[in-house]
Amino acid sequence: MTDSGSSSSTSTPLTSLSTSSGSLGLNIQKLTDPVSEVPHDEFWIFGYGSLIFKPPPGVERAEPGYITGFVRRFWQMSHDHRGVPDAPGRVVTLVEREYYWSRLAERDPHAKYEKKECRTYGVAYKIIPSQVPEVSAALDLREQNGYSVHLVPVHASSGSVILAIVYIGTPDNHAFAGVEADLDKLSELIYKSKGPSGYNKEYLLKLGEALRQLHDTNGVMEEDYHVEDLMARVRKLEALDVNK
Ligand code: BEZ
Repeated sequence: MTDSGSSSSTSTPLTSLSTSSGSLGLNIQKLTDPVSEVPHDEFWIFGYGSLIFKPPPGVERAEPGYITGFVRRFWQMSHDHRGVPDAPGRVVTLVEREYYWSRLAERDPHAKYEKKECRTYGVAYKIIPSQVPEVSAALDLREQNGYSVHLVPVHASSGSVILAIVYIGTPDNHAFAGVEADLDKLSELIYKSKGPSGYNKEYLLKLGEALRQLHDTNGVMEEDYHVEDLMARVRKLEALDVNK
């Protein structure tokens, strides 16, 4: 039984949740209703994007850590937060390693900087059990633009492995932009885009700074070259912009 006192499905042991292969070669489980599929007393959310610098509500504990088997890329369109429907910005999504190396990496100028294991660093948040339904509903609303929810093992800096839900914009979602092969164009798009949540460049720079902070406090973390390079390019555009 969970603190929510709700349905029997919440008592499913997390370890019994199987992995599945989807049509995109995804080897991780997709959840359709995390609130009923994941026990509320072990409800963790892994943040690798805005959740790093803007944590979800109802956090009981936060643990920095990494997941393996994905690359983080600014390849998801944002029509609702960092852009608008006619001029979408770009935010991060995760691309599964297998799919990435088999179909997309060849056109990605940053592919040569990816290590074999493909670690993505972020923060795992344990949600206060009684607040799981509201927090999950709030995040579903906040991240509704093409993201689906999956279950991943997180290697926490404390040494433990935590099963957490993660929001991923898979390559079949309507807002997936595909490979952004032209980095000048991508950085210009991020530099100029703006949406209801603010400037797209602010999202990029906050994410980059938060990743650097994670690096500083957890020494072993590797640099995310994709994010670092885009930050450098956007800062250069800013410095050259006479109209700012
Ligand atoms: C995040 O992990 O910060 C996140 C990324 C994409 C959608 C929702 C959350």
